[in-house]
Amino acid sequence: MLSATLGLLALASTSLAHPGRDWQEQAKIKDATAECTYYDFEPLQQLIGSYPSIWDVADLQGSGITEDVKALFAQLQPNIPKIAPRGTINGDWTGVSYDNGADPDCWWTNTGCTTPKLEGLPVDITECNPALSWGFTLDDGPNCTHNEYYDYLESINQKATLFYIGSNVVDWPLEAQRGLADGHEICAHTWSHNYMTALTDEQAFAELYYTKKAIKDVVGVTVQCWRPPFGDTDDRIRWIAEQLGMRTVIWSDDTDDWNWVNVGKATIEANYKDIIATAPKRPQGTIVLSHEINAGTMELSEEFLPQIQKTFTGGVMPVSRLAHFGRSVSLTSLACRSPSA
Ligand SMILES: *[C@@H]1O[C@H](CO)[C@@H](O)[C@H](O)[C@H]1NC(C)=O
Ligand SMILES: [Zn+2]
Repeated sequence: MLSATLGLLALASTSLAHPGRDWQEQAKIKDATAECTYYDFEPLQQLIGSYPSIWDVADLQGSGITEDVKALFAQLQPNIPKIAPRGTINGDWTGVSYDNGADPDCWWTNTGCTTPKLEGLPVDITECNPALSWGFTLDDGPNCTHNEYYDYLESINQKATLFYIGSNVVDWPLEAQRGLADGHEICAHTWSHNYMTALTDEQAFAELYYTKKAIKDVVGVTVQCWRPPFGDTDDRIRWIAEQLGMRTVIWSDDTDDWNWVNVGKATIEANYKDIIATAPKRPQGTIVLSHEINAGTMELSEEFLPQIQKTFTGGVMPVSRLAHFGRSVSLTSLACRSPSA
């Protein structure tokens, strides 16, 4: 025990002194404090100045933002659907009026709409085929404390679709690399995790563009899928994502696991049990929303995965099943799709 602890400390301090630490070394750390100690990552140090500030709403105003990105936005801007931003970045819509009946913008947050009104936009991905499948999705990573959980997923040979937040990828690049190396599928979950429909065109573009770029720079793959935080999207946001080559992925079932801190784990356990009991009766599979956001959500996932694997004999799988180390994900041969696609 003593030597293991000393070994851990030695690893942490050596690595801090030598920025050459790789994801395999980082993956061996199991103590949460050591896991969440920031480290240098050489490739990002070259690039970070050209990114927006992490955890702030992204835009193109920073002094390091490069001309090519501004030019791309300027080229897209005239064609961005003319839908005004609504509410606040925290999801406060006080005083906002919207015609839910007509739902002109296919605003998911108010109506659950996943079939865009705007001509030419593909439907959102919300379900998996075949029946008895569980589209396994984990949002809000990479979380620095995920090593034990990722070890567990490996031990049961379980792959997921990971919706990574750009700012988390910058904070925890080796943890992001591990996600791909373990065979998971990587998708984007915006730069700062705010309500997207509240953002200006420029902010929405920057949130998506730089999340895709950070994942490409750090992990090496070109993501082709994204999930809006809180599901908050409409045809303006979908259009911008589509121009950046990213398909919108929503979900059919929600564990509400992020909320365990407020409602208690028993409530979330009941949600899992309900999905496990009802989803197998449907003719099509699921896409289930869960999170790697903290130790509690990861524990809940571990608690139910054995039963999920046993029950969902159609497959417990990432959204596209195409996650391979060193390859970009492709949504061309989807295992999961909207039933109307
Ligand atoms: C990661 O997980 C830890 C442990 O549960 C939690 O304290 C922390 O807030 C999480 N970090 C992020 C960025 O979500
Ligand atoms: Zn999220």
